[in-house]
Amino acid sequence: MDSVEEEMFHVRKLEISDRNKGFIELLQQLTVCDSVSEEAFQERYQEIAKYGDDHLICVMQDNKHNSGKIVATGSVFIEKKFIRNCGKVGHIEDVVVDSSVRGKQLGKKIIDFLSDHARAMGCYKVILDCSLENIPFYEKCGFKQKEVQMVKYFI
Ligand SMILES: CC(C)(COP(=O)(O)OP(=O)(O)OC[C@H]1O[C@@H](n2cnc3c(N)ncnc32)[C@H](O)[C@@H]1OP(=O)(O)O)[C@@H](O)C(=O)NCCC(=O)NCCS
Repeated sequence: MDSVEEEMFHVRKLEISDRNKGFIELLQQLTVCDSVSEEAFQERYQEIAKYGDDHLICVMQDNKHNSGKIVATGSVFIEKKFIRNCGKVGHIEDVVVDSSVRGKQLGKKIIDFLSDHARAMGCYKVILDCSLENIPFYEKCGFKQKEVQMVKYFI
C-alpha cells in the first residue's frame, strides 16, 4: 500500500453515522449479525460510549473509491483486575476486513491500533480468541498462541 492509499484508509473511532456506511453489513462477514435498526444502534452506541476509553470500536472507511464504505473494524475492551497489582487486560474482539480489500495490511493496522490503545491504557497484555486458520495472521501481528478457549452458550 502506498502513502496515498495509507491516507485513504486511516483508522478512526466508530461514529454514530457509520451504521449507514455498511458497518453492520461488514460485521455480517464475521458472524451471525441480524440487521440493527437505527434506534437499536443508537441505544447500543450510547451504552458503549459510557465506558469511554475502556471500550473502543475502531473502523476504516474506504475514501479511495469514494464509496465511503466501512471496510474494516475491530474492538478492544479494557478489563480491570485485582491480580497483577490491580492490572488491566485488553480483550480484542470482532475483527473483520471487507472481502474486497483483504490482503492489503488493513487487518494488521486495525490490530496495531487496538493493541496500541490497550498499551496506552496501561494494560500489561492484550488477548483474543481466533480460529486455527487465523493463527498465522495474528502471529504476523506479533501475537503467540497460548492455552485454549472454553465457551458455554446460553442461546
Ligand atoms: C483475518 C482478517 C481480519 C485479516 O485481514 P487482512 O486485512 O486480510 O490481513 P492483512 O493484509 O493485514 O495481513 C497481515 C499479514 O497476515 C497474513 N495473513 C492474513 N490472513 C492470513 C491467513 N488466513 N493465513 C496466513 N496468513 C495470513 C497476510 O498475508 C499478511 O502477511 P505479510 O505482512 O507477510 O504480507 C481477514 O481475513 C478477515 O476479515 N477474515 C474474516 C473474518 C475473520 O476471520 N476475522 C477474525 C476473527 S478472530
